[in-house]
Amino acid sequence: MGTQKEFSPAQIQALKKADQDCYLHPTSSLWILQEKGAKIIAKGKGCKVWDVKGKEYYDGTAALWYSSVGHCRPDLAQAAKEQLDQLESYHSFNEFANVPAIQLAQKVSQMVPIKNAKIFFTSSGSESNDTIFKMVRFYWYLKEQDSKDIIITRNRAYHGVSCGAVCATRLPGFHEGFEPLLPGFDNIEPPYCYQCPWGKDVDSCSLECATALEEKIIALGKDKVAAFVAEPIIGTGGVIIPSPGYFEKIRQICTDNNVLFIADEVINAFGRTGKMFGIEHWEGVIPDIMTMAKGITSGYVQLGAVALSGEIFDTLKQRERFYHGFTYSGHPLACAVGLKNLEIIENETLVDNAKNMGKLLKEKIQALDFDVIGDVRGKGLMVGVELVKNKETKEKYDPPLAPLVVEAAYELGLITRPLIGDTLQFSPPMVISEPEINDMVKILGEAISQALKNRG
Ligand SMILES: Cc1ncc(COP(=O)(O)O)c(C=O)c1O
Repeated sequence: MGTQKEFSPAQIQALKKADQDCYLHPTSSLWILQEKGAKIIAKGKGCKVWDVKGKEYYDGTAALWYSSVGHCRPDLAQAAKEQLDQLESYHSFNEFANVPAIQLAQKVSQMVPIKNAKIFFTSSGSESNDTIFKMVRFYWYLKEQDSKDIIITRNRAYHGVSCGAVCATRLPGFHEGFEPLLPGFDNIEPPYCYQCPWGKDVDSCSLECATALEEKIIALGKDKVAAFVAEPIIGTGGVIIPSPGYFEKIRQICTDNNVLFIADEVINAFGRTGKMFGIEHWEGVIPDIMTMAKGITSGYVQLGAVALSGEIFDTLKQRERFYHGFTYSGHPLACAVGLKNLEIIENETLVDNAKNMGKLLKEKIQALDFDVIGDVRGKGLMVGVELVKNKETKEKYDPPLAPLVVEAAYELGLITRPLIGDTLQFSPPMVISEPEINDMVKILGEAISQALKNRG
């Protein structure tokens, strides 16, 4: 049944029942699943997916931001098969290694802006962030500054859900009831220009959002702060793009205060924002550490990575043994697929396509004639559409409108997603073409009309 192309009504019924009876879904409304059943996707190709009934959808979100090279490419299937035929798996503990892990580490090390970067592999974004939250503390411990253990994050950040990563995630719902969380995390406001937390606009802005980091470090004591972590462009928190100058100032504050700067590139990395890495939109800004996942394999196999500076590595090396690693760190199948995926991104110039198609996508959405479209923002194919009840006052719908648009769009054959702040996510695969963008935006327009009608 797993590779089956078509499903009878009885089979679909049975699948829905088994899903409700047995499958605990990640980050989902469990009661909606029990009431309505799951949206079961059975097939994918390029920028589209099909459900078990054979209905076609534009994948307007590239699944969870990750399907960069598009769905079901034979070249990636071939790369996976060749690796499975050669060596399906072997671990990298106790000084073992495998060929694709070494090759991918070399490739990523040469790509990232960090000098002499060392690459550690994980299987997800959360594992990458957990890894680094441990490592920065260990780094300061080895430097005999072990009072430096606080990690500063930002409101509206998403860094994952595992026990460490979730402490840096600052979105509604992710903490309540899961306490006690780990100690040693603090936060500042994000650089959210559409409704600036400091009430500033472009003319009056003095990058108060970056100064907030300095103020926080001073308040906590710089001998207490280990690192600052930030998504260069916030994703799940509503596609938030800091002003020019923000990360230059953040970098300087971190350097001046002996605080490590971690760029969480789990969504941004490998071209999605129209540059290979999100942080490259702020010229000359080099993080000490980068965390990655998603686009490294376009989701064909689960893989995450951490890049850290040569200086950090030299410090970690002082210890006779490094006590951190996952069974599947450097999994050869994931790394072989990752290598092929990066080759495709480079050979097919998908970073440029993300830049050009992202510009077109924004323009087309901006041209839709709806008062509820308050802000269309994005870089490359990472676009957010913030919905408002009143464009002048920026008053919001209560309850939010985005979930209704998402449902209407799904009926019409377009997958999008509600993000924090009544914002719609648009992040289609980086192989998308102009006609496909036009089609998607046409459906979005129909979906907004339908949602407004449904809302009454
Ligand atoms: C910026 C960022 N960091 C970390 C994560 C966590 O990644 P994962 O779900 O693979 O654990 C995500 C997931 O969406 C993310 O967007």
